[in-house]
Amino acid sequence: MLRVENIDCAYGKVQVLRGVSLTVAAGEIVGLLGRNGAGKTTTLKAIMGLVRPHAGRILFNDTTLSDLPAHEVPKQRVAYVPQGRRLFPSLSVRENLQMGLLVNDAGAETLAWVLELFPTLHERLRQRAGTLSGGEQQMLATGRALCTRPQLLLLDEPSEGLMPSLVDRLLDTVRGLREHQVGVLLVEQKVEAVLRVADRAVFMENGTVQHETGIDALKNDPTPLVRYVGVNR
Ligand SMILES: Nc1ncnc2c1ncn2[C@@H]1O[C@H](COP(=O)(O)OP(=O)(O)O)[C@@H](O)[C@H]1O
Ligand SMILES: [Mg+2]
Repeated sequence: MLRVENIDCAYGKVQVLRGVSLTVAAGEIVGLLGRNGAGKTTTLKAIMGLVRPHAGRILFNDTTLSDLPAHEVPKQRVAYVPQGRRLFPSLSVRENLQMGLLVNDAGAETLAWVLELFPTLHERLRQRAGTLSGGEQQMLATGRALCTRPQLLLLDEPSEGLMPSLVDRLLDTVRGLREHQVGVLLVEQKVEAVLRVADRAVFMENGTVQHETGIDALKNDPTPLVRYVGVNR
């Protein structure tokens, strides 16, 4: 479904991605791991067309995403929840979700589906997004992304700043997307979270993909976690 093929990306003259390749299949959850500065966020931005690769290409189904302007990418059913969420704080929960629905002309059925996934949002439809707790804002950002009816969802450190109980709820929701054939590319610092939901892990270091492994293999041999993320399990 998603194929990132050998992309190079730079900010100005500073090259930050070198030959990055990865794939995400329909219904697959891929964890993208690596230390700060490894290039994880830049990889997501490149998929969304927010950073332009100067070599390589990004394919999604039969479309070359890397040829499209950034505003066309969500219409290809690719949704992005950036680090730090970026809601419209003065708009209500309902209005934020409506912004998502507009992207691909989704309607009441999609809204009902999202509110079922995140019942907390249901109770707060009229509340201003800026007054939600951090966890609720993450739910809203993810809910808004799902309102665009994505086939592929890119999540950048969704567990950041969340209480453990909310992390669990979010991960349950991510896992539940599998049955809807939604693919997920999950950037996380919390290795535990990736081990719990992902099918596969891709490790980045210094702007390159260094290693790829199935999650079961990673549970048996956590060497890559120590090497590329710096955690001991
Ligand atoms: N807007 C930017 N301008 C210049 N350099 C950037 C910018 N964003 C990120 N970088 C640099 O690119 C590299 C990769 O960053 P990033 O993709 O954010 O890594 P990660 O998400 O893995 O922490 C880092 O060296 C970072 O300092
Ligand atoms: Mg990042």
